[in-house]
Amino acid sequence: MLTPIIFVVLCSPISGNLIKYEVTYLDPELKENLSGNVISVVNNIFKVTVLENLPELRSGMLNITDLHYFTVNNVNLQSMETGVFDNQNISHITLAGNKLTKIQSKIFDSLSTETLNLSGNQIDFIEEGAFRNMLRLCDLILSRNKLTRISSSYFDNTPNIIVFDISFNQITKIGEGCFSFLAEDYLIINIGNNAVEEIHPRGFENLNITELVLSHNLIRNVPEELVTKNKITILQMDYNQIRDFPDTFYAEMNSTIEALMISFNPLKCEVVEKIMEFSEKIIGPFCFSDEDCFETCQEN
Ligand SMILES: *[C@@H]1O[C@H](CO)[C@@H](O)[C@H](O)[C@H]1NC(C)=O
Ligand SMILES: *[C@@H]1O[C@H](CO)[C@@H](O)[C@H](O)[C@H]1NC(C)=O
Ligand SMILES: *[C@@H]1O[C@H](CO)[C@@H](O)[C@H](O)[C@H]1NC(C)=O
Ligand SMILES: *[C@@H]1O[C@H](CO)[C@@H](O)[C@H](O)[C@H]1NC(C)=O
Ligand SMILES: *[C@@H]1O[C@H](CO)[C@@H](O)[C@H](O)[C@H]1NC(C)=O
Ligand SMILES: *[C@@H]1O[C@H](CO)[C@@H](O)[C@H](O)[C@H]1NC(C)=O
Repeated sequence: MLTPIIFVVLCSPISGNLIKYEVTYLDPELKENLSGNVISVVNNIFKVTVLENLPELRSGMLNITDLHYFTVNNVNLQSMETGVFDNQNISHITLAGNKLTKIQSKIFDSLSTETLNLSGNQIDFIEEGAFRNMLRLCDLILSRNKLTRISSSYFDNTPNIIVFDISFNQITKIGEGCFSFLAEDYLIINIGNNAVEEIHPRGFENLNITELVLSHNLIRNVPEELVTKNKITILQMDYNQIRDFPDTFYAEMNSTIEALMISFNPLKCEVVEKIMEFSEKIIGPFCFSDEDCFETCQEN
C-alpha cells in the first residue's frame, strides 16, 4: 500500500521578483542578460536595459556608480520610490512608454543625469521642486503625457536645460515666467500638439531659442513680446488659429527669424501678403483656410 509520492514544484516566490535586464559592455558587441533583486553595475558597462515587467522601482534596487544609459522602457512601470536614484550616477535615464502618473519632489533630486526621458507615460502631476539641483540636466523629455500646465515651480537650480519637450500633452496656457528655469542659449522648446490658447506676454522672456515649436495648438494671438523679448531662429506655428501678427513681428522676420512654419492658420489676406515678402524664410506648404482669402496652398 504505497501512497504515491506527488512532487509539487512550486515557483519560488523570490524568482517572481527578480529584475531581468540586459547589460551592454563598453565593447558594444558584448552583451549579457542578467537577473537579480538589485541591478548592480560595475564600471565597464555602457548600458542597462530592463527587459521584463517592472511595476515599481524601489529604493535599493539600483547599485549603479557610473553608467551611460539606463533604459526602462515599456515594462509597465507605475511608480518609483523616493530614494531609488539617490547616489546613482547615470548619464541618460529613459523611463518611456510606461504607466507613471506623477513625479514626486525628491525622486530626481541632485542627480548628475544629463538626459531624462519620461515620454509616453500618463503623468498628469509634477510636484514642486521635482527637478531640483539637477546641474547637468540638458534634455528633459515629457512628451506624450497628460500634463495640463507647465510651471517653473517644478524646477529649482537646473541651469543647463536646453532641450525641453512637452509635446503631445494637454497644455492650455503658457503663463507668466513659465520658462524661467531654462538655460538662456541655444534652446529647443517643443510645445507642439497641445491645446494652448493663450501665451502670456511674459511667458517667454530673455531666451535665445534656436527652435520653438508651437504647431498644432489653438493659438489666436501672438504676443509682440514673444519675438521682441526673445531671439528666435526657427519658429513653428503651423496648425493654429492665428489671423494676424503684431507689427513688430515683420521686423523680426526681417532680422532674427530665419525660418517660419505658418501654414494652416486662418491668416487674413493682408497678412498673407506681408508674410510672402519673406517667402524665402517660409518652410513647408503655404496653405490657408480663411473665408476672405482663398489663396490656398501656394507652392513654395
Ligand atoms: C536578452 O533577452 C532579450 C529578451 O528576452 C533578448 O531579446 C535579447 O536578445 C537577450 N540578449 C542577450 C545578450 O542574450
Ligand atoms: C554594489 O556594487 C558593489 C560593486 O560595484 C558591490 O561590491 C556591492 O556588493 C553591491 N551591493 C549590492 C547590494 O548589490
Ligand atoms: C559619474 O560618472 C561620470 C562619468 O560618466 C564620472 O566622470 C564621474 O566622476 C562620476 N561621478 C561620481 C560621483 O561617481
Ligand atoms: C524618448 O524616448 C522615446 C521612447 O523610447 C523615444 O521615441 C524618443 O526618441 C526619446 N527622446 C529622446 C530625445 O531621446
Ligand atoms: C543671445 O545670443 C546673443 C548672441 O547671439 C548674445 O549676445 C545674447 O547675450 C544672448 N542673450 C541671451 C538672453 O542669452
Ligand atoms: C526689411 O529690411 C529691408 C532692408 O533691410 C527694408 O527695406 C524693408 O522695409 C524691411 N521690411 C520690413 C517689413 O521691415
